[in-house]
Amino acid sequence: MTLMSLHHAAGLLVCPVCRQPLTLVDGQGGYCSHGHQFDAARSGYLNLSRQAQPANADTRAMVAARRRFLATGAYDPVVDQLVPHTTGPVLLEAGAGPAFYLSACVAAADDRRGLALDLSTAAAQVAARAHPRIAAVVADIWSTWPVADQTIDSLLCLFAPRNLSEFNRVLRPGGRVLIVVPNPGHWASLRRQFGLLDIPPAKADQLVAQAPATWELVERCPIQFGFSASAEQVADLIAMGPNAFHSSPQPATAAEVEVDLSLLVWQQPA
Ligand SMILES: C[S@@+](CC[C@H](N)C(=O)[O-])C[C@H]1O[C@@H](n2cnc3c(N)ncnc32)[C@H](O)[C@@H]1O
Ligand SMILES: [Zn+2]
Repeated sequence: MTLMSLHHAAGLLVCPVCRQPLTLVDGQGGYCSHGHQFDAARSGYLNLSRQAQPANADTRAMVAARRRFLATGAYDPVVDQLVPHTTGPVLLEAGAGPAFYLSACVAAADDRRGLALDLSTAAAQVAARAHPRIAAVVADIWSTWPVADQTIDSLLCLFAPRNLSEFNRVLRPGGRVLIVVPNPGHWASLRRQFGLLDIPPAKADQLVAQAPATWELVERCPIQFGFSASAEQVADLIAMGPNAFHSSPQPATAAEVEVDLSLLVWQQPA
């Protein structure tokens, strides 16, 4: 199958070698005026990372678990709170994984298109097929992104690393940054029951303190709800995150799950 999604990144991507604009050809890849060329993968994503997959990139099994879990609808309340805060036609999700949240935000208006960035090729493979108006690119959030200055209207980052200076560089005047972070109460009983990793405290406060001075904090709201998870959902919740890198303590069983997140939204002055 030829995927026709790369052109949705037209005007957004620059060459990771020389920073000239990349011309994109669906199903083939991208090239710059200096002759640097990047082939699209057969599954449709473009790898602009110029490095081997690091050990901490999400694995195929983690991405599959995340996609399966999110498809059950258990986290739809997160989508419901996120989407109304997005703005403009050009969206980017940093550390997009399967691009579940980006897809929902792109689907909210017919003129929207999305760029899914992730270091994991397994994630990019899934993201490239997540929505017809999403292009998926492999890139390291901690490097200078292969994304042009001031091109993004809404920059999403949920449960992924945050490079605030790159967020600021690619954000358009009037654009928004939307970050979701877990609070210490997130999955509290699941953590106790299954011996999962702790959440470092006060992530939201740290972000508010670190945000660039020009950004205006327009929203800071809790996302809190609970649900009864099946054994399959619990297994996927554990398998889709960093706990997958640690030995699983005991077989998954059905459990009550408390979700306790903060949504932070900043706006760059127009
Ligand atoms: C916990 S998952 C969240 C995925 C997605 N935002 C979601 O909530 O469904 C974190 C994602 O960040 C990606 N990631 C981790 N370090 C990264 C880096 N340095 N650059 C780009 N992506 C990275 C992982 O591969 C993974 O897909
Ligand atoms: Zn180049």
